[in-house]
Amino acid sequence: MKNIITYCLLSLMIPATSLFADQEEKPLYKDKKQVIEKRIEDLLSRMTLAEKVMQLNQYTLGRNDNANNMADPVNDIPGEIGSLIYFSSDPELRNRVQHKAMEQTRLGIPILFGYDVIHGFRTIYPISLGQACSWNPGLVEQACAVAAQETRMSGVDWTFSPMIDVARDGRWGRVAEGYGEDPYTNAVFAVASVKGYQGTSLSSKKNVAACLKHYIGYGASEAGRDYVYTEISKQTLWDTYMLPYQEGVKAGAATLMSSFNDISGTPGSANKYTLTEVLKNQWKHDGFVVSDWGSIEQLRPQGVAADKKDAAFKAFQAGVEMDMMNRCYDQHLGDLVKEGKVSQDRLDDAVRRVLRVKFRLGLFDQPYTAVTKEKDRFFLPASLAIAEKLAEESVVLLKNEHKILPLTNVSKIAVVGPMAKNQFDLLGSWAAHGNQDRMVTIYEALKAEYQGKAEVSYAQGCNFDGDLTSGFEEAKNLASKSDVVVLCLGEKRGWSGENASRSTIALPAIQEQLVMELKKLGKPVILILSSGRPLDLTRLAPLSEAMLTIWQPGTPAGKPVAGVVSGRVNPSGKLSMTFPYTSGQIPVYYNQRQSARPHQGKYQDIPSTPLYEFAHGLSYTTFQYGDIKVSAAQLKRNTPLKVEVSVTNTGDRDGYETVHWFISDPVSTISRPVKELKHFDKQWIKKGETATYQFEVDLERDLGFVDGEGKRILESGDYYVMVKDKKVKIEIVD
Ligand code: NOJ
Repeated sequence: MKNIITYCLLSLMIPATSLFADQEEKPLYKDKKQVIEKRIEDLLSRMTLAEKVMQLNQYTLGRNDNANNMADPVNDIPGEIGSLIYFSSDPELRNRVQHKAMEQTRLGIPILFGYDVIHGFRTIYPISLGQACSWNPGLVEQACAVAAQETRMSGVDWTFSPMIDVARDGRWGRVAEGYGEDPYTNAVFAVASVKGYQGTSLSSKKNVAACLKHYIGYGASEAGRDYVYTEISKQTLWDTYMLPYQEGVKAGAATLMSSFNDISGTPGSANKYTLTEVLKNQWKHDGFVVSDWGSIEQLRPQGVAADKKDAAFKAFQAGVEMDMMNRCYDQHLGDLVKEGKVSQDRLDDAVRRVLRVKFRLGLFDQPYTAVTKEKDRFFLPASLAIAEKLAEESVVLLKNEHKILPLTNVSKIAVVGPMAKNQFDLLGSWAAHGNQDRMVTIYEALKAEYQGKAEVSYAQGCNFDGDLTSGFEEAKNLASKSDVVVLCLGEKRGWSGENASRSTIALPAIQEQLVMELKKLGKPVILILSSGRPLDLTRLAPLSEAMLTIWQPGTPAGKPVAGVVSGRVNPSGKLSMTFPYTSGQIPVYYNQRQSARPHQGKYQDIPSTPLYEFAHGLSYTTFQYGDIKVSAAQLKRNTPLKVEVSVTNTGDRDGYETVHWFISDPVSTISRPVKELKHFDKQWIKKGETATYQFEVDLERDLGFVDGEGKRILESGDYYVMVKDKKVKIEIVD
């Protein structure tokens, strides 16, 4: 019924120019030789109010197995719709719907097809939190480029990625989707993924438009509960949350998604300051903002809109151009314009932005997707190689007592635990069209890795949760006959992601109990942990000789794990998010602000330091750091500053080492965090060799700070530049 009304409206409102459409020459907007801005203006001048409004809506199409979302039947899709969330991976279905838009509507405006390609389309990469632990943005860019190619070739032009919400509470399920607790890290990976997705030209059939999300502050969700209030002062907004978006916009991200969260009283999807004053006016973003699913309609329960019409008004005026599945714009925007509440200028600005992205994607000139075979799109050897390397580099060796790893000279390995013979949960929460077909379990991978060298046997031991201990006996029998126990534990994939908050980040008691039981046998225990968040490992750490966190590695599944366990791969990952001592310590993150009494204010019952700090991660080799050298210890503003440190591989094997450069500003007009990451660099160092790591400091960018309006300020005085336990003082003089 709704669509019939839309069609009637459309036919009633056709402007005079189009009555002669048949006799008209090819309209300018269809001429690919014309520049995009001219084409937009020409098209805009031909559009009716209803046609304009329809461009600002997104419905869904195809399969939808996400319980939080519901799909529309295909036949209901009006050809005039601006965008569709495309749940299928079949180019033919896209082409059928696109045909409707191109051939059966008055103006033939192509539909923009979007989808959540978060860590891969069919070839699945590790979750973003794990990707960040690789500290290898070049590799992440390559992974995103592969994802883009698989995506575009499957009929999707636009991904709702990257998620760059700084997040410091592991209870929040969505920490899995971002790059951890640090603003700079999120910024670097935002740029890497935008470059990977969008390449050098959006119109290439291998690239997709990126979407920075969730703008902004969603990661500050109170106590890790999803969709709730966030208390963010303007100073914190700029200090903690803006940088990744600012850099992502600079890198050319075509779109942004407005967030669900209420930012100190003004929800992200009705926030004129962030959406218009900052994004459009200050940063000059000329693409568009899509709402999150339902985030406009949700302005009602959030208490800032009386009804859907009011919600449409508030979101649109604030700067949200496209309505994702709220059914607010399609129902009310036309009336709001007719009533003069929304200006024609704002409407045209919004439509222009949407059309601009469509033109840049080349959709007007090539609206259809070539129909190719799946085997020519997915799991190409080069794509799988990138996935495997990224999964290897994401693994973090948390602990390795007596150098128990790598496991050599063993003849019997017991592989135990609910994650040992599991593929599904290694995929991660937003696995798009990923499937288990090619995934080898950790058990199978270890068997293959140790073929001819050691006997590898399996017992499940327990489930992920519940209280069934009936499998303990079998696991203990196996362990007692083995030289070592490789215990594979962790979280189901549904335990992280959207709407997947947990009150504790410890593993369920049954898994901890299994570790305790096996430890009693006196065999060395190696814990392999797969999760979508940092874990509370305080009780497990003393019960194991070694611990590896593998996150959710995606398609490569068990193979990289087996490589690290056997020593074929030297682990190099370092944490992108702090592992707290207990859930009660949350929020705990490395860049906390300075305390009034650093020596006091500690917990009485637990340490105040985390179990594993940000950037912690071991290698099978050892690295020795030299002193930091600076090009000048005292300098004026606008002077270049170079700092460097040499790192020697003092162990007995080659390996990667990532150097993290931190700064601190002990005295400032606005108190600064105890330290802040400003640069990182990863190099391969052969055993016995020394590498030099350099950081070209831009004084204003790296030593300065932003105020609550985003203005950068560099004050004179002392600063420190730090790597590991090395520290050097820099003085800025006027
Ligand atoms: C809601 C999620 O918050 C967002 O990240 C996602 O892109 C949309 N749903 C579309 O699936």
